[in-house]
Amino acid sequence: MSYPQPKPGVLKIGRYIQGQSEIAGIENPIKLSSNESSAGPSPAAVEAYQRAGQQLNRYPDGAQTGLRKAIAEVYNLDAERIICGNGSDELLALFLRAYAGEGDQVLLSENGFVMCRIHATGQGSEVVIAPERNYLVDVDALLERVTDKTRVVIVANPNNPTGTYLPRDELKRLHAELPKAVLFIIDGAYAEYVMRDDYEDGLALVDQFQNIVVTRTFSKIYGLPSLRIGWAYCPERVVDAVQRIRTPFNTNGPALAAAAAAIKDTAYTKAICEHNAQSLEQISSHLATLGLVVVPSVTNFYLIRFPGNRNKTAQGAATYLQSKGIIPRPVGGEGDNHLRITVGSSDENKAVMNVLTEYMQS
Ligand SMILES: Cc1ncc(COP(=O)(O)O)c(C=O)c1O
Repeated sequence: MSYPQPKPGVLKIGRYIQGQSEIAGIENPIKLSSNESSAGPSPAAVEAYQRAGQQLNRYPDGAQTGLRKAIAEVYNLDAERIICGNGSDELLALFLRAYAGEGDQVLLSENGFVMCRIHATGQGSEVVIAPERNYLVDVDALLERVTDKTRVVIVANPNNPTGTYLPRDELKRLHAELPKAVLFIIDGAYAEYVMRDDYEDGLALVDQFQNIVVTRTFSKIYGLPSLRIGWAYCPERVVDAVQRIRTPFNTNGPALAAAAAAIKDTAYTKAICEHNAQSLEQISSHLATLGLVVVPSVTNFYLIRFPGNRNKTAQGAATYLQSKGIIPRPVGGEGDNHLRITVGSSDENKAVMNVLTEYMQS
């Protein structure tokens, strides 16, 4: 007797491994493994969430009108071309469902959001990976891998776990050289943290071209990952396609309300952004004095390269940090000498610097 079989791509998928959140025997560890905001959401968002909590007996607004309007106002966008999702993760999955299928290729840069590989593989598409160079997305490596089967290209800008970004000219060059029929998705999960003049978040490009989509999230700078809410800005045709497969109530009422309040509280976001940039500067210059390489980051996390000699390894540092109640995120496989750490509160950052100093000097 044969049993029901999942679609061919499904069993090729490895399980997603979440950032660690607990340390046995330590009550309140400092969790710096998932690029969350230690400041949490704006008080206005919490209030909106609580208010929406009084109406749990009602379906949410399936048209997502309030949140789309709030996003459009803050960023000066066309509200009709915004779609909200259950995290930007869901939106990436919807774009891949709509545009890539069996026999197609989805082209990704080596780093970026791991779920893109999973969604594309689940669709039965072939995932093609372009290597990165010097911790940067390599535009030429991506372009060399475009074939007549390429349907979707996804680049996280800034990138994860490197924390680096592709400057405007490079992003535009990549887009300009892609065939018009390829959907180019710019994953901007960390866009709000970037304070560089040559950074391009891609939103203006969406207004100019028919094949660019930008995804954004409320999980990072807005401090709302638990509510699972993200948004995308798209050309009209893409909105039309994705609205056909989006479930009507994919985003819940409290999330829609909290996100609308969060995005309007621009003063709160600005303060977090500034604190993040200052913290990154302090941390990077301190860790450099210990002989560690910190990849220049424009995000709320940083990637450290350990020398690997004198037994000073990423794994050794991770174990030592954990013994002191701090959870970092090891990246790559065993033997990879990199550790990713989220920027935390000033006290949390001090704790990381002290513990890494002890480790490197021990
Ligand atoms: C680069 C990148 N893109 C997308 C996401 C997805 O975020 P969410 O689904 O919470 O919006 C993440 C989450 O960590 C990420 O790091």
